[in-house]
Amino acid sequence: MDILIKNIRQLITCRNKSRIPKSGKKQSEIGLIANANIFIENGKFTFVGGHFELRKFLATNKSTKYDVIDATGKIIFPGFVDSHTHFVFAGSREDEYEMRLAGKSYQEIAKSGGGIISTVNAVRDTLKAKLKEISEKRLEKFVKCGTTTIEGKSGYGLDTGNEIKILEIMNELNVENKYHLDIVPTFLGAHSIPPGKSKKDYIQEICNNLIPIITKSKLSEFIDVFIEENYFDKNDTDYIFSTGRKFGMTPKLHTDQFTSIGGIDIAIKYNAASVDHLEVLKENDIAKIVMHNKARGVRKIIANILPGVSYFLNIPYAPARELIKNNVPVALATDFNPGSCMTENLQMIMSLASLKLKMTAEEILNAVTINAAFALNMENKVGSIETGKQADLVIFDMPSYKYLIYNFGINNLETVIKKGHVVYKVS
Ligand code: NIG
Ligand code: FE
Repeated sequence: MDILIKNIRQLITCRNKSRIPKSGKKQSEIGLIANANIFIENGKFTFVGGHFELRKFLATNKSTKYDVIDATGKIIFPGFVDSHTHFVFAGSREDEYEMRLAGKSYQEIAKSGGGIISTVNAVRDTLKAKLKEISEKRLEKFVKCGTTTIEGKSGYGLDTGNEIKILEIMNELNVENKYHLDIVPTFLGAHSIPPGKSKKDYIQEICNNLIPIITKSKLSEFIDVFIEENYFDKNDTDYIFSTGRKFGMTPKLHTDQFTSIGGIDIAIKYNAASVDHLEVLKENDIAKIVMHNKARGVRKIIANILPGVSYFLNIPYAPARELIKNNVPVALATDFNPGSCMTENLQMIMSLASLKLKMTAEEILNAVTINAAFALNMENKVGSIETGKQADLVIFDMPSYKYLIYNFGINNLETVIKKGHVVYKVS
């Protein structure tokens, strides 16, 4: 069914005329239209504009049967894009959370057999159908907070069968989920070293077995690595990315979370779509990203910041202001996972970005929409409200767009529209 949404108090389009990720001053351009209207046909935006233009549009438009949503007093944003999550996992780690409160660090817990490996054990013990059911349930929570596009990583299988199991679940859910969400699977085989196997052997399994299967079956376009002390180093990452590239995969990188061990150099070498985390990012590495991005057109490296991790693990916050000042496009994501950030709520991340990263409301809005879409190579489809793009939007009941971040810890979301379908509505 086609839809007319009329009388929108403030429409935040996040439109992107330049077609490159928004950075520097442009990171603040949100494309606000007051008293706006939207027309949706066949799952796409066919009109976005004011009352006068709407009358002209309707006079010539062929669509005569459509639903009308009166958005008087409402605020509309593009559907949020959560560009970094690990939403397919089994079990939970609240015990570990308490150990951290009692003084143990994330790394200490990992060394004593907890951390990523405890979730790996839970995933291996869970049949595919069950794991899919658990993961699908989580999607509802994302949607209720306004997320309409979600990236998800493997990395809790750490062997061929279980890594494929996780990627297949995401691919199946992408086709089947009742919310019509776009689900973007990323292969993060190099998330940790599996128990009972040498790192060398596991990297061989990733490169000789997993990458060929994943690319042949089109299970993931992206390849990710956790470059960190006690996980994978610069040489490992280089080797894995070089194999991924041979098979046509696009790199992303978990880097500079606890230590800075050369991740930025490797990300630049392989034109990564994004560098994610960056809690301990160094000034000279920012300069390297700046240099690299200057020479790139559309495919600039996005700094994907995850302030929920800083909050949840009590570690430093990424230097968002430095990145924006230096013209590096910034995205924000939840990093939803059981160990380092247990929230599905991108609105919570926006609050943290405001108070802890010192980002403005406008910078934050582009970071969770169009720039996040760029981090997933999906900027032509999602991340802004513009004619021709997929009709993904969220309707909030609140007085102004700035209220989204100001009124923290509560959800003012009323309606979610994905690909032109009303997929969630508060009754
Ligand atoms: O993005 N940093 C590595 N991986 C995840 C945490 C995974 C876990 O603790 O289960 C992250 O923070
Ligand atoms: Fe992560």
